[in-house]
Amino acid sequence: MKALENAIVKHGKVLSDTVLKVDSFLNHQIDPELMQQIGEEFAVHFQKAGVTKILTLESSGIAPSVMAGLQLKVPVVFARKKKSLTLKDELYLAEVYSFTKKETNEISISKDYISSNDIVLIIDDFLANGQAVLGLMEITKQTGASLAGVGIVIEKGFQNGAKLIRDKNIPLKSLAIIDSLANGQITFRKEGSL
Ligand code: G4P
Ligand code: NA
Ligand code: NA
Repeated sequence: MKALENAIVKHGKVLSDTVLKVDSFLNHQIDPELMQQIGEEFAVHFQKAGVTKILTLESSGIAPSVMAGLQLKVPVVFARKKKSLTLKDELYLAEVYSFTKKETNEISISKDYISSNDIVLIIDDFLANGQAVLGLMEITKQTGASLAGVGIVIEKGFQNGAKLIRDKNIPLKSLAIIDSLANGQITFRKEGSL
């Protein structure tokens, strides 16, 4: 997605060979117009999948998910990272290991908002090692819903997450794929190439 790649080039900061900071439009300050275009891209890509719910993870997954939900006219459920004041048997839970933070966190959603009749689209801001998406897939499995696919704003193609998802034959759409951040340079994968 050209507008997204342009924003990454213009505003992104390469913090290391593996980390890209995009606080000015995605992870801290949010660019609503860009988010709207991102939502449209996801909606166009998944419009024939019969999606009934979008599932994401707080906090940075929420903005692109709401924009996609607006286009697809479906509700957005965000998994929580902090425990809410809900009894455990009223929740679907999954463990998510963060390679960045070297800790395991429990994520959860209420059983009220996704049912076995739903067709779920998972959306997240970044795909790195894929642990967050795997956790959202585990929650989806517990609900009995079917999974339409996974939509990612920025995929780091040099990390393992995309392979983990594709190996399970789950449709994956990443709006920008970064093949390298080496030497402070952002290299995008060309559209159409694997
Ligand atoms: P993984 O799920 O793919 O294994 O990711 P990892 O544990 O490595 O990432 C932890 C957090 O860092 C996640 O956000 C993830 O989206 C984000 N992240 C991973 N790589 C990058 C990167 O290169 N740049 C930026 N900006 N973020 C990255 P989170 O802790 O869930 O935070 P939130 O922003 O959603 O609140
Ligand atoms: Na995230
Ligand atoms: Na994030």
